[in-house]
Order: sequence, then structure tokens, then C-alpha cells
Amino acid sequence: MSNFSGKTALVTGAGSGIGEAVALRLAEQGAAVVVSDINKDAADKVVQKIKNSDGKAAAFAADTSDPKQMEAAVDFACTEFGALDLAFNNAGILGATVPTGELSIEDWQRVININLSGVFYGLRYEIPAMLKNGGGAIVNTASILGLVGTPDLAGYVAAKHGVSGLTKTAALEYSDKGIRINSVHPGYIDTPLLNELDRETYNALKALHPIGRLGQAEEVAKVVTFLLSDDASFVTGSQYTVDGAYTAR
Ligand SMILES: NC(=O)c1ccc[n+]([C@@H]2O[C@H](COP(=O)([O-])OP(=O)(O)OC[C@H]3O[C@@H](n4cnc5c(N)ncnc54)[C@H](O)[C@@H]3O)[C@@H](O)[C@H]2O)c1
Repeated sequence: MSNFSGKTALVTGAGSGIGEAVALRLAEQGAAVVVSDINKDAADKVVQKIKNSDGKAAAFAADTSDPKQMEAAVDFACTEFGALDLAFNNAGILGATVPTGELSIEDWQRVININLSGVFYGLRYEIPAMLKNGGGAIVNTASILGLVGTPDLAGYVAAKHGVSGLTKTAALEYSDKGIRINSVHPGYIDTPLLNELDRETYNALKALHPIGRLGQAEEVAKVVTFLLSDDASFVTGSQYTVDGAYTAR
């Protein structure tokens, strides 16, 4: 088990699913965690779980698509726990599932604002905070759909491919300055995000994964905490799939 004692982590979209699993695992391994989510009640519940297990955490309500709120989340981590060492830019939504020629402009903009710009706003404020502190590690949540396309999810696929490119660029800029930056690319993971899909689509998803099932949030969290840990000291600018061989075909 890696040890994050003395480190402060900011996790966005930490009120549910993959973000929650990462927040819990980081806290279990000693980090002080800022549990950030647009849904304050959900963030409060995760903080309570961490505190019940004698971990250190604080909730912060922030919409990642608003740069001022992301700046405030980073400031909060630094004032509440002294510095920022680790960040998981993870908040995301699926958006409407319709062909590109029918996708509303509003839905396109909403998905791009949260899933792509939200990750940039995170990096924009986390990087200066980490540089002040001598370095750190960042993981951005992309997706298998940041590596390959799929029908009916144009905004999501474009945003996640954007996250891949943004991650590689930031890694090139900051790897020699003490900040490692990687992206994680989950296959379909059984979280509330998939509630937006109809039952038939949901059931058909298993067949797309050669491993024969969907993933669990904790299986992604194990890879993310590895990437945030010193065990991954030579890993930066990488795209880590956690996808039951979805993209191996
Ligand atoms: N579940 C999957 O199959 C899957 C696969 C690949 C990638 N991902 C990605 O993983 C990330 C987490 O997804 P999940 O499956 O855990 O979903 P989830 O719906 O369980 O959790 C997402 C969390 O993000 C929060 N959130 C939504 N919009 C926000 C915003 N604007 N600002 C701050 N917080 C916001 C929600 O309140 C929620 O708590 C997303 O980026 C998603 O695209 C999920």
C-alpha cells in the first residue's frame, strides 16, 4: 500500500462513483482529502465516511465548469490543509446520446465545459499551487472514449480526446519541474453515470468488454492512487486504460 501521509489531495466529482472511490482510498492511505463536488450533500456524505474511519477530509462545493470555483477549490485545499500535493480532475457527465447531426448546441457546450474545460481549469490553478510547494502529481479522468470513438456521444468523445491531449501537453511542460501528469481511461464502470443510459444499452455494454463484465469504481481507484503515488515516479504523460480489454481489439 502506498502511503500518502502528510499529503493533501483535491478530488473533483468526489461525491459519487470513481471520484468517491479515489477519495476514500487516498484518505485510507493517509492523505488529507478535499472532497469537491457540485453536489455538496454528496460531498458531505463522503467526508463523513472518511471521518468515521478516522481519516482527514473536508468538503468543498465547486462546479468544475466555472474557473472561479476551481480557483477557490485549490485555494481552499491550500488554506485548509497547508499545501496541495495531489489532484484528481475527475468530474464529468455523459450528456445526451444522439447522433452528431441532432445534438443540441446547449448539450455540446455543457459537456465540453464540464468534461474538458473543467479539467483545464483544474490544471490551471493546481499547477501553480504545486510548483510553490516543490511539485506534485495529477491524474485526469479521460475514458476509453478519449482513445476511440463511439456513435451518439460526440460531445463526450471530443471532450475526452481533449483531456488526453491536454494531459500530454501539461506533462511535457511540467515533468522536469516536479509535477507528473497522467490520464486514466476507464472502460464502462458500474456507477450512477450510467443511469443516463436506457436498460437495453446498459445491458449491451458488457459484451463490449472482452473480460465479460463492467468495471467497478474501486478497480479504477487502485490505478489512480498508484499513478498519484511515488511508486509511479517515472510515469508521466501516460494514458492508462482500465478497460477489461475494450480498446485491445
Ligand atoms: N462510469 C463510467 O462508465 C465511466 C467510464 C469512463 C470514464 N468515466 C468518467 O469518470 C468520471 C467520473 O464518473 P463516474 O462514473 O464516477 O460518475 P458519477 O455520476 O458516479 O460521479 C460523477 C460526480 O461528478 C459530479 N459532477 C457532475 N458535474 C459536475 C460539475 N460540473 N462540477 C463538479 N462536479 C460535478 C456529480 O455530482 C457526481 O458526484 C467522469 O469524468 C466520467 O466521464 C466514467
